[in-house]
Amino acid sequence: MAFRGVLIGCGFFARNHMAAWADLPGVEIVAVCDRDAEKARAYARDFGIPHWGVDAEALLAELRPDFVDIATTVGSHRALVELAAGQARLVICQKPFAETMEDARAMVAACAATGAILAVHENFRWQRPIREVKALLEQGAIGAPRWLRLSFRHGYDIYANQPYLAEVRDLALTDIGLHLFDMVRHLMGDVERLSCEVQRRNPRVAGFDAFQALLRHGSGAVSSVECSFHSQLSPDPFPQSLLVVEGDAGTIEVAEGFRLRLHRGDRVEARAVEPDCPTWGARPWHLIQESVLAFQRQAVAALEGRGGMEPSGAHNLGTLELVLAAIRAADEGVVVRL
Ligand SMILES: NC(=O)c1ccc[n+]([C@@H]2O[C@H](COP(=O)([O-])OP(=O)(O)OC[C@H]3O[C@@H](n4cnc5c(N)ncnc54)[C@H](O)[C@@H]3O)[C@@H](O)[C@H]2O)c1
Repeated sequence: MAFRGVLIGCGFFARNHMAAWADLPGVEIVAVCDRDAEKARAYARDFGIPHWGVDAEALLAELRPDFVDIATTVGSHRALVELAAGQARLVICQKPFAETMEDARAMVAACAATGAILAVHENFRWQRPIREVKALLEQGAIGAPRWLRLSFRHGYDIYANQPYLAEVRDLALTDIGLHLFDMVRHLMGDVERLSCEVQRRNPRVAGFDAFQALLRHGSGAVSSVECSFHSQLSPDPFPQSLLVVEGDAGTIEVAEGFRLRLHRGDRVEARAVEPDCPTWGARPWHLIQESVLAFQRQAVAALEGRGGMEPSGAHNLGTLELVLAAIRAADEGVVVRL
């Protein structure tokens, strides 16, 4: 019998969650919930889900699912995670996990108290190019990694699908910065200190839509993390993160157009790392959509007790801490030690 899930938050992005759950054997979404009845009803109709509702508490108490997938915006996360912790064995929460460390720690504690597995939907580390880079690093293909540049710069109109982003003060850091910091921790290890500069590039948005952070890792490695939502590039790499990692014995590059190059001595090996487009996907979103599938694929194994989910809520505390440190570093013009 399939593991039964409830999805909360029937908005723009959760359509990808729903399509990916439908692709995965061993799990079944039995109900969808949104505080807006029309949205919940539309999801139930579009994805053939037997139950829908507006009250998460009532729905979870009635259905007692194996897992809860929370795809709402950040302000609702703590209440929903605390609720789900008492009703399900696995709780997945979209990023940003929380706005404060206090909320984030409370969610980790709530799940620890009930024994529920808590995962944060940081799908960027599950993108195919990043999976390939991680595998090369683990194989020792370039020796110990010493320096990295991770760059997410584009001019795609993100406000068309997510109008709420135009009002967020630390937009680039809290929306994509935390994905980038999660990827950097995944590839290069934990961070000891950082500095950060932010910019407001697009005059039509209220917040900082660009940043550049400089990170020193515990290993001594150094990373530069760059992000802009108002760059003019042709072709526009959106939504690709471009990357260079230099190690003691070589360099890995991921360039626009999903081109991975491995440099060792005077030899270069090139390969394409474009993910497949899911049957329900569409370019250029297929990179993100396939990563949602890869992220969610962990759920069955986790529910069967064959492993955890990456990243866990506890791991994500460190990523949120980095984002908050970067905001402080930019506001005060200081280097922040973690
Ligand atoms: N991982 C990614 O690649 C990625 C991409 C886009 C968005 N996101 C994240 O996904 C989250 C949702 O983004 P979105 O663009 O889909 O937002 P959205 O506003 O389109 O959808 C959120 C939905 O949640 C519902 N909701 C809010 N609080 C609720 C509650 N307490 N109970 C029930 N329903 C509630 C809203 O009514 C809305 O329909 C955000 O946190 C965003 O950062 C992640």
